[in-house]
Amino acid sequence: MHQYSLVLLVLLGLAAASAQSEQTPTAEQGRQLWIKEVLGAKGDSRACTTCHGTDLTQAGEHQRTHKLIEPMAKSVTPSRYEDPKKVAKWFRRNCKWTWGRECTAEEKRAILSYLKSQ
Ligand code: HEC
Repeated sequence: MHQYSLVLLVLLGLAAASAQSEQTPTAEQGRQLWIKEVLGAKGDSRACTTCHGTDLTQAGEHQRTHKLIEPMAKSVTPSRYEDPKKVAKWFRRNCKWTWGRECTAEEKRAILSYLKSQ
């Protein structure tokens, strides 16, 4: 009986560990969108990472103003994605600047799922 529960505990631990290291399909979709590069109006390459960087746990730097942007990872900057108005405003502005159009609801959901998982 004891041995059986030990095996069960080990299995549960393994399941928890793999759940942590793997992304959900939606978050993975968000990651792809986050790093997707498009050609800007002036032939420059643009992505969300242009200002936010590729490592979400590190601060980013605004491409034009060079202002510091706090890390996007929710685990590092807990205040992130708490204000729906702020989230909507920056999605609108940044999607337009980066991709030349607004992001779809589905894209926003995937990207948020990725950013919050980090
Ligand atoms: C030209 C620079 C720049 C680019 C490129 C950029 N962002 Fe941002 N982003 C900012 C700035 C500046 C802020 C506001 C400052 C802050 O929240 O730290 C911000 C904030 C955000 C926020 C709000 C975070 C919160 O705390 O609620 C989201 C969401 C976001 N960006 C998503 C994106 C996505 C998605 C892309 C790519 C499509 C992108 N950004 C590309 C500069 C940029």
